[in-house]
Amino acid sequence: MKVFAKILCLCLSLTVLVLCCGCGDTGLTTEEGKLTMATNAEFPPYEFREGDKIVGIDAEVAGLIAEKLGLELEIADVDFESIIPGVQSGKYDMGMAGMTVTEDRQKKVNFSTSYAKGIQVVIVKEDSDIKSIDDLTGKKIGAQQGTTGYIYASDTPENGGYGEENVIGYQNGALAVEALKGGKVDCVIIDNEPAKAYVAANEGLKILDTEFTNEDYAICFSKKNDELQKKVNDALEELIADGSLQKVVDKYIKAE
Ligand code: ARG
Repeated sequence: MKVFAKILCLCLSLTVLVLCCGCGDTGLTTEEGKLTMATNAEFPPYEFREGDKIVGIDAEVAGLIAEKLGLELEIADVDFESIIPGVQSGKYDMGMAGMTVTEDRQKKVNFSTSYAKGIQVVIVKEDSDIKSIDDLTGKKIGAQQGTTGYIYASDTPENGGYGEENVIGYQNGALAVEALKGGKVDCVIIDNEPAKAYVAANEGLKILDTEFTNEDYAICFSKKNDELQKKVNDALEELIADGSLQKVVDKYIKAE
């Protein structure tokens, strides 16, 4: 009889446990059923607007991740510099914006497995006297605020930069390119794929051959949400392994 009571007790507590796990809000995302992603949609081919839709590699891959997790993707288009603070404060579940993994950022957020590589390049006018990065000293450099391009360029010459006073920060890459066309800056330092897109869309510009730096792109998460990071990471790794991610990349980046 005693044994029977014990078993009954165990069964009851197991049922309670299962029920709790099954229907309670796990706290995985800030809003139940949704995966909110912060981005800055002026960064083709990773994220850009087509009409009022945000499309691009990041937007589509995030859509596939959300699908795997059974969540509805919601994209917030914000200034690049407010992505990390927004993820830290829990306003957004994750940030995905062609974002480079840096040591400094790793102190603030956690990153997923890297899903793409980027190279910082220099855009100049076709007739520019800037032939390589050695000619950048004393020139006016444009970059998007808060990006690695801005961070490297504005560093001191001892650290390989060109000095803060020579760099003008713009709210997005498109505005930096406009400034270059208008002669307000002599060059723009930006990631290679957006650079190609901007050069293709604007006449009279070219990309210098020189590779400035190599970077890894990854998705960022709050340090308090290991569970979401793990789930998204698993989904992302599946998409990498089965070729789905490459398919999205091939759609947006045509082989040369
Ligand atoms: N890869 C660079 C960085 O992480 C630039 C990213 C800019 N992304 C954007 N969506 N505007 O700093």
